[in-house]
Amino acid sequence: MGSILKLDRLSKAFGAVTVADALSYDVQQGEALGVIGPNGAGKTSMFNLITGTLSPNSGKVEFAGQNVTKWNAARRSHAGVARSFQVPQPFSGMTVFENAMIAATQSAGLHGHEAERFCLEVLEQTELLPKANVLAGSLTLLERKRLELTRALCAKPKLLLLDEIAGGLTEGECASLVQTIKDIHASGVTIIWIEHVVHALLEVVDRLIVIDFGKKIAEGEPHAIMNSPEVKEIYLGIEADA
Ligand SMILES: Nc1ncnc2c1ncn2[C@@H]1O[C@H](COP(=O)(O)OP(=O)(O)OP(=O)(O)O)[C@@H](O)[C@H]1O
Ligand SMILES: [Mg+2]
Repeated sequence: MGSILKLDRLSKAFGAVTVADALSYDVQQGEALGVIGPNGAGKTSMFNLITGTLSPNSGKVEFAGQNVTKWNAARRSHAGVARSFQVPQPFSGMTVFENAMIAATQSAGLHGHEAERFCLEVLEQTELLPKANVLAGSLTLLERKRLELTRALCAKPKLLLLDEIAGGLTEGECASLVQTIKDIHASGVTIIWIEHVVHALLEVVDRLIVIDFGKKIAEGEPHAIMNSPEVKEIYLGIEADA
């Protein structure tokens, strides 16, 4: 196995706001890591630091054994880092299939029929095949979440970063999305999943970390972490001794 991602004392501040405070952790190949923390804790910023859209003030990001800290986002994407966005960002005037093709050609470097075949496979996996020729702008919320997943998977990721993909869905929709994510994980993709819908997260992740003010405040077995007093106090706003 071995680690696929290593954050080493990663720090970033926007003026007085610290979004990453000496953040260090490893992600093992094939693992599913969950990330929770209050609004504004720096979770999305952490993804920006991993994908390379944000540069740290100090610290290091290693991916697949290489120091990628100075690599731009395109280079990291080609190397196998893909993400879904908290606010879905499809090309609304293009079809679902065209959106998938952009990721497959630009990020995975596929061409022609090979790219088309691969996109159809991914759309089947993400259950969007029946919507392949529909404009992205006309999709429902669940379908837009599935399109985020499709676009990320079409980049052939080794590491898939999911940013609050379950938010705003009904229970039934959430359950169906969780099943899709479980299948993706079972196919060997390493996942880091930021999520406020904790019950969905707990169905998938092997390990959980908690971030507050850019700092990792807890890390370990998911249920143990959720039941720890400091997480209840800081994350859920419940007094530790209540
Ligand atoms: N480019 C930026 N410039 C200035 N401040 C920023 C920038 N990006 C994020 N921030 C601030 O950094 C803090 C952390 O933001 P971030 O989006 O990483 O939080 P988050 O943990 O993802 O929150 P949420 O759970 O609400 O999605 C917030 O206070 C945010 O306003
Ligand atoms: Mg966020």
